[in-house]
Amino acid sequence: MQIVPSGQTLGARIEGLDLATPLSDPDFRTLLRALGQFGVLCFPKQTIDVPHFAAFGRRFGDLEINVANLFHEPGFPEVMILSNMQDAAGKPLGLNDAGQGWHTDMSYSKDIALANILHAQRVPIRHGQSVGETQFRNMHAAYDALPDSLKDRLEGRTATHDFEKFWEVMRLRPGSGRKPLTEEQKRRKPPVSQPIVRTHPITGRKILYANPGYTMWIDGMDRHESDLILDYLFRHQERADFLYAHHWQEGDVLIWDNIGTVHNAVADYLPDEPRYMRRVQVMATLDYAKLAA
Ligand code: OGA
Ligand code: MN
Repeated sequence: MQIVPSGQTLGARIEGLDLATPLSDPDFRTLLRALGQFGVLCFPKQTIDVPHFAAFGRRFGDLEINVANLFHEPGFPEVMILSNMQDAAGKPLGLNDAGQGWHTDMSYSKDIALANILHAQRVPIRHGQSVGETQFRNMHAAYDALPDSLKDRLEGRTATHDFEKFWEVMRLRPGSGRKPLTEEQKRRKPPVSQPIVRTHPITGRKILYANPGYTMWIDGMDRHESDLILDYLFRHQERADFLYAHHWQEGDVLIWDNIGTVHNAVADYLPDEPRYMRRVQVMATLDYAKLAA
């Protein structure tokens, strides 16, 4: 396998690996370390089927079954479908508005996620260029660049994250098919507190763990002050030099670090420009520090 860094703040291509073949332990370790270092890894031209895709994901940790999981590959509830496509009867094939806004998946969960993995089946192409890019921001770099005084103030602090925050933002957008969360769904996703500064399990470095999608407030702080700091942090994250965009090609398998990055899906394609992604959510259930050592 060959690792080709993008040369930008995040991103690398992994060449010469067919994900249909089980990963050897040394290759797995190499990939894990690359995930920490580059944040977003692309394996181009992969033709793996659903079971192999799920098996690849499972190598990194347990796979989550989404609380609002309406769309998944038949027989594989852990393999979600993100798509704007419909079947012949007009029934949606996938979730059509996933990730449209800066967020970190599962930050609203007591048990956080290590990574997300998408396998691009259909990518909208316009005038020979792919549209519907996915953007990432580097939270190692964002933490490093904070003023020391703010690092000190954030150290040891937690913030509350709530699944319903992002859900409501999406639900209130024009044309959204999302329904209010049921009491049962809310019960299964109660707000949780997360450290704002955490040590990344692979790199051992500090990262900024807060995102506009789910983070509500800093615990134990005056609300006004908390709003000001979070507002500052979310704007700090927007610095141009922390940004990396992935431009999809069909066959890409993309894995991203869901602890050391935040991400955003750019929905700049129309309903008749089909996009179809298989997706697994890898929970942080293994001892990554040990596996990467
Ligand atoms: C996700 C997500 C982005 C995309 O799968 O968690 O945010 O571009 N997807 O589909
Ligand atoms: Mn997401």
